[in-house]
Amino acid sequence: MYDLAVIGGGPGGYTAAIRGAQHGLKVLLVEKDTLGGTCLTRGCIPTKSFISDSKLLNAAKNSSVLEGTDSLKIDPAKMVARKRQVVETLVNGLQSIIKSHAIDVVLGIGHLAAPGQLQVQQADASINAYAAQNIILANGSKPAVPPFIEVDGQFVQTTDEALDTEDIPQKIAIIGGGVIGIEMATIYLNMGVDVTILELLPDILATEDRDIRLVMRRLLKRRGAQLFTQAKVKEIVRNGDRIDLIFEDQTGAAQSLQSDRVLVATGRAPVLDGINSRQLGLEMEGPFVRVNEKMKTNLPGVYAIGDLVGGMMLAHKASAEAEAVVKNIMGAKKEVIPEQIPRCIWGIAEIGAVGLTEEQARATQRNIKTGTFHFMSSGAAHAMGHIDGFVKIIGDSENGEILGVHILGEHATDLIGDAVTTMTMESAVEDLAEAIKPHPTLSETLMEAAMDWNRRAIHKPKIR
Ligand code: NAI
Repeated sequence: MYDLAVIGGGPGGYTAAIRGAQHGLKVLLVEKDTLGGTCLTRGCIPTKSFISDSKLLNAAKNSSVLEGTDSLKIDPAKMVARKRQVVETLVNGLQSIIKSHAIDVVLGIGHLAAPGQLQVQQADASINAYAAQNIILANGSKPAVPPFIEVDGQFVQTTDEALDTEDIPQKIAIIGGGVIGIEMATIYLNMGVDVTILELLPDILATEDRDIRLVMRRLLKRRGAQLFTQAKVKEIVRNGDRIDLIFEDQTGAAQSLQSDRVLVATGRAPVLDGINSRQLGLEMEGPFVRVNEKMKTNLPGVYAIGDLVGGMMLAHKASAEAEAVVKNIMGAKKEVIPEQIPRCIWGIAEIGAVGLTEEQARATQRNIKTGTFHFMSSGAAHAMGHIDGFVKIIGDSENGEILGVHILGEHATDLIGDAVTTMTMESAVEDLAEAIKPHPTLSETLMEAAMDWNRRAIHKPKIR
């Protein structure tokens, strides 16, 4: 009998297993594929490896001081090989950490048989049964493809295939202007690919602040991306080595587009293999497993975390939920506060955001004030040659509570960490302004935006 069994070895599942073992629990971890899950093997880490390589190429080609860069090109096979190496290194590292904690790992598809009982179907079709006092479902998600689109893996791909493809198209159409659509568009644009993005909604990156969306749209267009919003894709037809994509534009007019490849980035759906909700009496919320604020399902001793429960589909949200569940199992109280979960997007410029957008903050009817600071006024940004960017802080004008922080620009995904720490410690906007920041670094932009919240930024002219 195990104290804790975890189904799914992604950032949610493996964090729960390790933390459980650290608390002295006897832990079983079930994984059907590779430890590390989507994030490590076909999501966050592979895309960041590609972003890094392709960014290097773009920076060199556009450098004002390097010479002879016109002929520079990327070797896609080497780029994929480097990514595989990065993934392998991290998976090996994770395996040895898990081993060091004496966590039992079983490879196979985990089935929740009943509360306290699970079965694992292994590759040789054998089925083994296990009992555990607590079970955490951390099955993750997979690409959600609209029913009229057929993914063939070569001409029509999701990121599962795109991140393992060793040739670069000349022209790509990306369906979906969400997080994956924008990150993949960035990789292709960096490599000189002709990119068209087709988004169903009136704007890209619907979850983000209006100013962030506006600047990202501008930057994408400046890089030559074609962007169609309110675009309804009707048909995708293979035509020899090309793909014809028929869509309705925002005026309702039919348009067609030819490309070498189509990438489908229209969202992700939970993986429900091994979870027969009807038979189990497991309550669902749409396609997701329903949980309370302690990540408990309606079944005794059964918890669910990460992409399986919906909300923000982010690795660090899944890890935070894993920590909360283990704390709750150990008798402490812990909840994950959605407003304290950072959102990071590696686009043409990085985006780091936490908390409410300005639109959402205004809708709360609280009195709010914003402070902004543009990278253009930062010495560090000029020295680095990255002056596109800004920080916007939204705070309650009465008590200074930080309601939202939005950063676009170089290192935004790192910079947002400071804001998250400040918010988690329930400090105020003024505290962000007080803390001394090293010069010359981009961290000063966050401090100056906090100072601007009280109209006291140093590197900003006085408004008369
Ligand atoms: P998403 O929900 O962010 O974006 C999907 C987009 O596709 C939406 O804007 C939606 O309106 C659009 N769409 C849906 N159907 C469409 C259609 N038929 N035609 C045109 N557009 C259509 O989902 P995405 O980008 O696939 O990412 C999946 C999940 O993975 C998200 O929750 C995302 O947050 C997460 N993720 C996070 C990353 C990060 O934190 N850096 C990186 C990659 C993914």
